[in-house]
Amino acid sequence: MTSVVDQGNGIDPDEQHLIFDELYRGKDHRQMVQGTGMGLSIARTIVEAHGGSLSVISERGCGSVFSFTLPIDPQFIPS
Ligand SMILES: Nc1ncnc2c1ncn2[C@@H]1O[C@H](COP(=O)(O)OP(=O)(O)O)[C@@H](O)[C@H]1O
Ligand SMILES: [Mg+2]
Repeated sequence: MTSVVDQGNGIDPDEQHLIFDELYRGKDHRQMVQGTGMGLSIARTIVEAHGGSLSVISERGCGSVFSFTLPIDPQFIPS
């Protein structure tokens, strides 16, 4: 698993499942910060196309941890 950690504003619990939707932009960010709402949707689509998963754990006022997994092809595991 690979993770990226920040110490930003965090994400509301009721928004955490929405931020991966196409065009969805958080209520704290849509007026203040430029963006398209596509970044996380594209990232999840790419990771899932390779058989992995992408998720977030976040706490308001503390920060966020975005993590993804990717399967390893058994032929590349050293014996
Ligand atoms: N590291 C982060 N910390 C807090 N909120 C985030 C973070 N990354 C994404 N978000 C929230 O998820 C929403 C969707 O993110 P994203 O798909 O990257 O689109 P965009 O950045 O263009 O708004 C953002 O608008 C923001 O509300
Ligand atoms: Mg973004």
